[in-house]
Amino acid sequence: MNRYARTVALVAYASLMENSAPPPDAPPVTTGMKKGLTSYGDAGFSLFLRKAFIKGAGYTDSALDRPVIGITNTGSSYNPCHGNAPQLIEAVKRGVMLAGGLPMDFPTMSIHESFSAPTSMYLRNLMSMDTEELIRAQPMDAVVLIGGCDKTVPAQLMGAASAGIPAIQLITGSMLTGSHRSERVGACTDCRRYWGKYRADEVDAEEIAEVNNQLVASVGTCSVMGTASTMACIAEALGMTVPGGASPPAVTADRIRVAEETGTLAVKMAHERLTIDKVLTAHAFENAMRVLLAIGGSTNGIVHLTAIAGRLGFEIDLEALDRMGRDTPVLLDLKPSGQHYMEDFHHAGGMATLLRELKPLLHLDALTVTGRTLGEEIYAAGPGFRQDVVRSMSNPIYPQGGIAVLQGNLAPGGAIIKQSAADATLMEHEGRAVVFENAADLANRIDSDDLDVTADDILVLKNIGPKGAPGMPEAGYIPIPKKLARVGVKDIVRISDGRMSGTAAGTIVLHVTPESAVGGPLAYVQNGDRIRLSVAQRGINLLVTDDELARRMAASPAVAPSADRGYRKLFLQTVTQADQGVDFDFLRAPESRGSIPKM
Ligand code: FES
Repeated sequence: MNRYARTVALVAYASLMENSAPPPDAPPVTTGMKKGLTSYGDAGFSLFLRKAFIKGAGYTDSALDRPVIGITNTGSSYNPCHGNAPQLIEAVKRGVMLAGGLPMDFPTMSIHESFSAPTSMYLRNLMSMDTEELIRAQPMDAVVLIGGCDKTVPAQLMGAASAGIPAIQLITGSMLTGSHRSERVGACTDCRRYWGKYRADEVDAEEIAEVNNQLVASVGTCSVMGTASTMACIAEALGMTVPGGASPPAVTADRIRVAEETGTLAVKMAHERLTIDKVLTAHAFENAMRVLLAIGGSTNGIVHLTAIAGRLGFEIDLEALDRMGRDTPVLLDLKPSGQHYMEDFHHAGGMATLLRELKPLLHLDALTVTGRTLGEEIYAAGPGFRQDVVRSMSNPIYPQGGIAVLQGNLAPGGAIIKQSAADATLMEHEGRAVVFENAADLANRIDSDDLDVTADDILVLKNIGPKGAPGMPEAGYIPIPKKLARVGVKDIVRISDGRMSGTAAGTIVLHVTPESAVGGPLAYVQNGDRIRLSVAQRGINLLVTDDELARRMAASPAVAPSADRGYRKLFLQTVTQADQGVDFDFLRAPESRGSIPKM
C-alpha cells in the first residue's frame, strides 16, 4: 500500500471509530481530557477546572471530546538539528485533525551536541525523565516524539517506554550536503577530516574558515551515518516510525508528508491502544541490532539501545551482538564507513531497500506502529530498483558487522571497536602505552613536541567514562598527536572508557568497562606498558601480570567522583556503566524479562 492509500485508509478508520457508540458495559472513560486529572479530591471539579482553563485558549467542547495526541516540541534556538520543528508540528497537527484527534504540542528539553556542556550524554537521562513525566502528567492518548539530534531520540524512546502509552517517533531528518571548492561536504565526518588537515598544516586558516560555512548546508541532523542517522534507522527498525520515516532530509516535502502521516497514525494508535510495549519487543530489539550492524552504525547506538531495552526489562547481550556481527555484513555505503550521505540513502529507497536485503536475518513478525508487521511493511514497500547506496548481501561494503565486541583483562566488562571504520593494518597490533590521565591532561600534552610517541604506540585516555568526565563524552576520538600528523600519520590505536562520535573513524577502542573512575583495570595502565589488540580474537589485553595489576590497585585504589548537590549528584550516584546503557539505575525496569537475543 503506498503512502497516499495508507493515509486515506487511516482517515476512514479514524472517522469510523469516532462515530461508533461505546458499548453499554464500557468501563468509565479515562481517555482524552479526562485522563490523569489533577488531584483536588474531587474528580468532577478537576475536570471542570481543566476545561475552564483550556477553553481560555478558545477550544470548544467538541474539540475537547476528541482523542488527545501529545506532540513533543523540541524546537530550540540552540538546536539547529531541530530547526524544522515548527513545520513538522504543523504537519503532525494536520494529520491528527484529519483523523479526528486533538493535537496538543508541548515543550520538552532539547539537546544539541555542540551546545551541551560537559557533553550531551550527561543530559540524555534528564531529557528522558522530562519526556516521561510530561507524558504521564498531561492528558494524552498517544504521543508523537519529535527528535533527531543524537541524544534526543534515545531519550524520547527511553522516556516513552517507561511512560507506557501509545507512542510514535518522528525524526527531524538529515541536513543537506554542502560544497567546498567543488567537493561535496557534510557534517560531521568532513568536519573532522578538514580539522585533521588543518592540524597537519595541509589546509590554511583561510580555507578552514571557508569550509566552516559549507559543512552544515541546512537545518537537520548530521548527514552521515553518525549517531543521529543511526538512531533514525534504529527507530524505524524497531517499528517506531511510519515506514520510510528514517531517511527523508529535514527540508524536503517527503519529511513533511511523513510528519502528517505520523499525526494520522497516532490517532489510530490511540483508538487501538497500541501501547509502546507491544512494539518494543525482544524481536524488535533484535531487528534493531541487525540493522545497527548492517548500516555500519555509530557505536553510541549500542549504548542507547541497551538503555531503551533496559526500560522494558531487557538486557542486550553484547557477546551475542558480536556473534550476530559475524554473519551480518555492512550493506550501507555511507560515510564514515563508506562514501555516500543520508540524502543519497533516501534517494536509494531508504530503509525499505535495506530491510528488503536484510530480510533473511530479520524477525518479520515484529509489530510496528502501523499495526502491521515489519514483514508486511517490507512487502508493502514494493520491489527494489537499481541504486548504488545499499549493497546486496553478496557484495557488501564490509564482510562483517561494523561493530566488534572485545574482551580481556583490560576490559572485563567488555569494550567495542567500530571495525568498519578502522585501519585494517592496525586491527592486530601490540604497542607501548602512552597514557593520558584525563581529558585535561590530553589537551595539555597531545600536541607537545616533547611528547614521547611513535605511530606504533597505543594512546590511552582515562577518566572519560560515565562517572569519570562525567557523562562519558565523545572524547574517545583522541586526535593524532601533531608531531605524528605532520609526518603523515593518519591513524593510531587509541583506547578509552569514553565514547566516540558516530561521524568519526579510526582504530579506536571505546566503552572500556568498568571505567577507570570506578577502579577498572584501565585506571592502572602506566606509560610504557605493553597492550595487545586483536580484533580477530576479540581481545584487548594489558600485558602485565595479575600480581602486578593487583599491586597497583592496592597501592592507589580508585575514589569514585561525587558531587554535593543537584543533578550532578543524582548523576554520579546512580549512573550505570556502558554495558547497562549509562542509564540511571532507578530508571531501569525493576523486573528482568531476559536477554536479547533470546536464547
Ligand atoms: Fe545534531 Fe549531529 S549535531 S545530529
